[in-house]
Formats: sequence, structure tokens, C-alpha cells
Amino acid sequence: MSAGPAVSLRSMVAEDIPEVLALEQRLFPHDAWPEQFFHEELAHTQGERATRRYWVCTEPVEDDPLTDERIIGFVGMMCVLPLADVQTIAVAPEAQGRGLGTTMLHLVVDTARDLGAEQVLLEVRSDNDGAQGLYRREGFTHIHTRRRYYPDGADALIMQKPLTDLDAPTSASRLR
Ligand SMILES: CC(C)(COP(=O)(O)OP(=O)(O)OC[C@H]1O[C@@H](n2cnc3c(N)ncnc32)[C@H](O)[C@@H]1OP(=O)(O)O)[C@@H](O)C(=O)NCCC(=O)NCCS
Repeated sequence: MSAGPAVSLRSMVAEDIPEVLALEQRLFPHDAWPEQFFHEELAHTQGERATRRYWVCTEPVEDDPLTDERIIGFVGMMCVLPLADVQTIAVAPEAQGRGLGTTMLHLVVDTARDLGAEQVLLEVRSDNDGAQGLYRREGFTHIHTRRRYYPDGADALIMQKPLTDLDAPTSASRLR
């Protein structure tokens, strides 16, 4: 990972929720997901028909006898074919700008492609220029605006990244 060899990604488990929730409340103070929402999302990561995937990004901790890692980011996706959605993505303020957001977004896009999704969708606040910059750089385009979507009246931009290669030969073109 470009963010440094000590950083690692693994699946989120229920025991991570208190730490993830603390990060969520720091990063989204006005519209943080409630704890129950994370439990419900993780419940959908289980079984053959799982529709969700969640990961945490961690770095080692050396000065705390109670733990050997700290969660510095998390990301979640929903995949109900043919669509995949980025449910959430967040990086701790002190760890931003090191490529973790990019790495986690790549993980979602690669997983969506592996699962057979045709496109990845996400929604982002219209005033969140930083996140929009990341998404545009990663091939997402703005396809729709949901007016006054957020509780404070901000608009949501719906952004989309197609996963199907429009230049790839189709079965029809191969016949010629
Ligand atoms: C958006 C977020 C996940 C990006 O994570 P990150 O680890 O900082 O991202 P990266 O280091 O991979 O940065 C990639 C790009 O993000 C953009 N970016 C991220 N944060 C930015 C900021 N505060 N200001 C400007 N650009 C920013 C830049 O385009 C950057 O590209 P660059 O490296 O060429 O400058 C992180 O900033 C975050 O958690 N923000 C708060 C929560 C949030 O807004 N989540 C998204 C909700 S839709």
C-alpha cells in the first residue's frame, strides 16, 4: 500500500464498531451513523447472500498495553447486481492525504468488478470538494443531484463509475 508498509486492511468485525463509531462521530459530526446502523450493515456481510462488504484500515500501536492496532479508516460497500454502492468511506484527519482513501476506493471498485457489478455509485455532499476531487480522479462522474438531501439542507451529488469496458469486443462484434 502506498500509505506505508505498516498500514493494513482487513474486514471489519463487530468488535471494531466502538472505534469505528468514534471515528465516524469525529468525521461526520452532523450526520453520524448511529451504532445500530453499523451492526445492521455488518449483519449483511454474512452468508452466501451477503450484500455488504466492510473493511478497516489499521496501523500498529506500540505505546498501549491494551491494543496493538488503531483504526485509521474504514470503507463499506453494498453490491446488489448489477449495481455497487460506496456506503461510506472515511480516513482519520491525522492520516488523510497519505493515499488511504484512494487505496480503500480501489478495494471497493476491484471487489465490485470481481462480484460482477456493472457500475459503482456513491453520493457525496455538494460542499465536500476534497472527496469529490478523489472520486473524479478515480473515474467517477456526477450524474444526478438530490436537492436538499442532507438534514442541514445540503445537496447530494450522485456520482458513477462504469465498470464495463465500452471498447471491449462484444459477442456480436466477434462474429464479424
Ligand atoms: C475523502 C477521504 C476519505 C479521502 O481520504 P484520504 O486518505 O485523505 O485520500 P487520499 O490521501 O487518497 O487523497 C486522494 C485525493 O483526495 C482528495 N482530497 C482528499 N481530502 C482532501 C482535502 N481535505 N482537500 C482537498 N483534497 C482532498 C484529493 O483530490 C487527493 O488527491 P491528491 O493526492 O492528488 O491531492 C478523507 O478526506 C475523509 O475521510 N474525509 C472526511 C470524510 C468524508 O468526507 N468522506 C467522504 C464522504 S462521501
